[in-house]
Amino acid sequence: MSLSQIARSIKSSPTLALNEKAAILREKGDPVIHLGGGEPKSKAPMDAILAASAHLNTGEVRYAPADGIPALKQAIIRYTEEYYNRKVSPKNVIASGGAKQALMVALQAIVNPQEEVLYPSPFWVSYPEMIKLCQGIPVCAPAEDGSFYPTIEDIEQRVSSYTKAIIINSPNNPSGAMYSEEFIANIVEYCEKKDIYLIMDDIYHRLIFDGKKPINCFDYAKDKSENSKIIVINGVSKQYAMTGFRIGWAVGNKKVIEAMTNIQGHQTSGPSVLLQKAAVGALNGIQSSVESLRVTLENNRNILMDRLNAFEGVKTYKPDGTFYTFADFSHYEKSSMKLSNLLIDKVQVLTVPGVEFGMEGFLRISFCGTIKDITEGIDRMKWALDLNSPNELYIGDRKLVRDWA
Ligand SMILES: Cc1ncc(COP(=O)(O)O)c(C=O)c1O
Repeated sequence: MSLSQIARSIKSSPTLALNEKAAILREKGDPVIHLGGGEPKSKAPMDAILAASAHLNTGEVRYAPADGIPALKQAIIRYTEEYYNRKVSPKNVIASGGAKQALMVALQAIVNPQEEVLYPSPFWVSYPEMIKLCQGIPVCAPAEDGSFYPTIEDIEQRVSSYTKAIIINSPNNPSGAMYSEEFIANIVEYCEKKDIYLIMDDIYHRLIFDGKKPINCFDYAKDKSENSKIIVINGVSKQYAMTGFRIGWAVGNKKVIEAMTNIQGHQTSGPSVLLQKAAVGALNGIQSSVESLRVTLENNRNILMDRLNAFEGVKTYKPDGTFYTFADFSHYEKSSMKLSNLLIDKVQVLTVPGVEFGMEGFLRISFCGTIKDITEGIDRMKWALDLNSPNELYIGDRKLVRDWA
């Protein structure tokens, strides 16, 4: 069968594949612990459910405008004023099928074949594939000092005359690192100076810990006009625990948003009106669920870090936000893929191999599940890897005996 070059160049999503694997193993009755997931366990806010059901009950569920229903755009405008101190108009806003589609159509609207799009590493698995889908060239910029916090020099070094855009995701999936205000200020200034698009993937911006406050890129922008090349991406998936609703958005200059609307209009049309109504409910409703999720995640992070820190041989990094930690397991095994497979095969714990995020030897461990899953999951991992642990482990009433070294 002949497939397009683009289709052949794209890898499947490793995180979605892992979710499928977890589901298959669970169906078989295996006592799987999924520490690879990317979605909070809490329920969607009641205001979201009520808003969607009220619309569903009318029985009239029609096409929605390609760029989103006016009520959702208004809610996004209000959100942008509250969190970004920026007044925008409906023409600066597009609602999409998740932040994923918002990012994808943003890239399609600005990237020409062979143009480069740069992002720090470690990076979210979809960036390189999305850029390739636009026939662009993904360029990843690791921090020179090996940390999760790149400097502006790390970025500058990799910018070329072909660089069209820089994507910044802070706090970051997979590391949980929240970049400093100084770094964000520098990157905004640099992109303005070089006339490069700056895509801020702020999907985790309110899920931050230790008293930190979300950073607003516009605070550092000199150009607040319609020429601004900052595109902010956000959505309801993570902060409102509404991953399955598939509503995200982008805020940008009118020309970019118009181009994105044209593209989205031909791709999928606007997102389902029911799900947009749910997002309006979430954004305009009682906000306590976001804070309660944040507090739960901070507590989960603390428990996970205590457990991981007691794991000799693992180098840990305390996440500033998100619900992931990215830990260095290279002491046990250099290949993160081999390590992740071993943990699934031997103790049914799912983690995501670091190589998928651009850093070998690391595993991404999620703390968006239950405390029981976190503690038992880490205990099982420790048993599998640390040869000083007892030779046997009970999972329920099943006895495992370590037969590997
Ligand atoms: C960094 C980052 N950006 C965007 C997304 C996409 O979010 P959505 O569910 O809104 O498409 C994710 C989801 O995992 C993510 O981690």
